[in-house]
Amino acid sequence: MTRTVLLWLAFALAAGAADQATIAQGQKQEQRTCLPCHSLRIVHTNRLSRAGWNKELDKMAGWGAKYTDRDALLEYLVATYGDAKPVAPPEMTADGRK
Ligand code: HEC
Repeated sequence: MTRTVLLWLAFALAAGAADQATIAQGQKQEQRTCLPCHSLRIVHTNRLSRAGWNKELDKMAGWGAKYTDRDALLEYLVATYGDAKPVAPPEMTADGRK
């Protein structure tokens, strides 16, 4: 019984750690892959499902984005800007200028 619990715990911890590493890797990929074409604001103001981000990455590939670790990038986007996250606050400049 105790052994089962310990095994389960070890597995859960390992899985959690791998996840954090994947997300960090995905964020690096974002810097490398997305910034050459546009700012990240256009990315970070979105809240999309996994299917939505997947489609978005295909769309960007069609415009020339090249992925070295597409899986990590997708995991990062879903974890950080998934559709369960609260909507980003609008940016207001008060004078109508950007
Ligand atoms: C080869 C150029 C290019 C690259 C690289 C690129 N994009 Fe885009 N992206 C565009 C263009 C062009 C638009 C639409 C025009 C605009 O509004 O600036 C756009 C718009 C978007 C939008 C707004 C919604 C939409 O579909 O128009 C999102 C979200 C987005 N990109 C995400 C990403 C992410 C995430 C990456 C990195 C993985 C990325 N883009 C890399 C060219 C690119």
